[in-house]
Amino acid sequence: MSPPGDRTVLVLGGAGTVGSGTVKVLLERGFRVVVISRDAARLEKLKHFVPAATRSRLFTLIGDVGSEEGAEAAKTAVLQAVGKVTDIVSSLGFSWWQGGPPHTQTVEELNRVLNTLLISTFTSWKAFFPLVKDDHNGSYTFITGGAGERLLMPGTGFLTLGAAGALAFCQVVREEYPDVPCKLNEVKLNMGVATPDRIAPGFVNHLDVGEAIATVLVKNSVSHHVFCANTPADLKTLIVEGKV
Ligand SMILES: NC(=O)c1ccc[n+]([C@@H]2O[C@H](COP(=O)([O-])OP(=O)(O)OC[C@H]3O[C@@H](n4cnc5c(N)ncnc54)[C@H](OP(=O)(O)O)[C@@H]3O)[C@@H](O)[C@H]2O)c1
Repeated sequence: MSPPGDRTVLVLGGAGTVGSGTVKVLLERGFRVVVISRDAARLEKLKHFVPAATRSRLFTLIGDVGSEEGAEAAKTAVLQAVGKVTDIVSSLGFSWWQGGPPHTQTVEELNRVLNTLLISTFTSWKAFFPLVKDDHNGSYTFITGGAGERLLMPGTGFLTLGAAGALAFCQVVREEYPDVPCKLNEVKLNMGVATPDRIAPGFVNHLDVGEAIATVLVKNSVSHHVFCANTPADLKTLIVEGKV
């Protein structure tokens, strides 16, 4: 296992809710971190969110990984900026969607949701997986949620469709690539995740989620595994023991 100081983690979706908590904790644990976002303002906000002493190890790039061309262009830019990526955390998507029941929706909206949750997960994996797949110290970790297994509440159906696609994609990758040297894992969060100012009942702090994801990367001991956190207690166990 390589020490964090020798590892560079690309956090896809690193400017988002789950991603920003993960980026901060990874930097605090000594990793170098790269983040791609479509939005320069979100990257600026992220730079100010992480401790000043760690900022020199954070590399930010503007890019859109939601198409094959965009993901390839982002890969070229990442490699130019940091040389080598050892680990990838894929936390793409969005926090919430509640546009209404299917009969009120359009095919354009369904396309938008599937693009955000499923297609970007695929296009970025296709571009970035080759960077880590042959490295037995490397890892690719997908972040998913329970929304793909059921309707969370009325009007959230398209969220279920997109999240189900992402869950299925992770399963397909595990089964299609049973023997890759790198660690291939999924952290499945069956709870809401929020920044401290938006915590509500049933939600966990994005920094606790970041601690759990960082522990999985630091231990880097299992592969083709789904770490399923159903409760805050599960998350604590994952942080302390690296398993649930
Ligand atoms: N939040 C929760 O309550 C929760 C709970 C369980 C599981 N999850 C899972 O965690 C994952 C992330 O959720 P989140 O709450 O962190 O969502 P979020 O705050 O909306 O962040 C998602 C990130 O994905 C990025 N992204 C999406 N499409 C992209 C593209 N084409 N190119 C580049 N970046 C793209 C966005 O980047 P930009 O900066 O470019 O917009 C954004 O930063 C989702 O898969 C979700 O299912 C979330």
